[in-house]
Amino acid sequence: MGGNAIFVDQTNQPLGERETIADVARNLERWVDVIVLRTYAHDTITEMAANARVPVVNALSDFEHPCQALADFMALEEHFGAAAGLNFTYVGDGNNVCHSLMLTGAQLGTNVTVATPRGYSPDIEIVTKAREIAAVNGCEIRLLQDPQAAAEGADAIYTDVCVSMGLEHESTKRAPIFRPFQVNEALMSKATPTAVFMHCLPARRNEEVTDAVIDGPQSIVFDQAENRLHAQKALLLLLLGGLASVEKFQ
Ligand code: NVA
Repeated sequence: MGGNAIFVDQTNQPLGERETIADVARNLERWVDVIVLRTYAHDTITEMAANARVPVVNALSDFEHPCQALADFMALEEHFGAAAGLNFTYVGDGNNVCHSLMLTGAQLGTNVTVATPRGYSPDIEIVTKAREIAAVNGCEIRLLQDPQAAAEGADAIYTDVCVSMGLEHESTKRAPIFRPFQVNEALMSKATPTAVFMHCLPARRNEEVTDAVIDGPQSIVFDQAENRLHAQKALLLLLLGGLASVEKFQ
């Protein structure tokens, strides 16, 4: 789109170490038009946003993953024509990806069912917010602990790793807890015959999803991946130039 991107590698110099995040924000806002921040702690993003006079995009935090959800619902709209009225099921950890899917689904009038093991449900603040938004848009947010019941009649079944970034030390503990939540052909058979399988990637194959499902005809995971490009380009255009320039690129 004719812009210039500057990559700040946080692996060499973690944000907030040499200089406060607020001071980094006050520097960056002088040089760039938008900050796209992919980080770990969600507070890093809110602190940057509170201190920068340019838009700050959450490109992944441990609490939300909104850019992924934009791409995912774009894929659903491409596949089904509209997201409103669809029955969308998320199976697995009530994590960052799950949070953003609930919020985005609620905005778009999609019924969202989340099935997690006990103790791994999504954050209560997110659930409350999603339910408030869903009430306005005529859809429902349901929390279950039974993956089979959640998959029943679903138009889409989505899963993610059970061990998100920063939780790697919990791998051994989590593996048996999440095993019954694996998306396999048996679980997919509970959904509608036209249902799609979704995953934000990277996937741990044959853990949260079997090869047969992720590589099968119902999988739209690479449409989702492609849409990260399109949805984020649109988001940048919207933030930088307003709707007028979005229309120009249509
Ligand atoms: N839930 C995963 C998403 C990765 C894109 C994680 O936070 O590691």
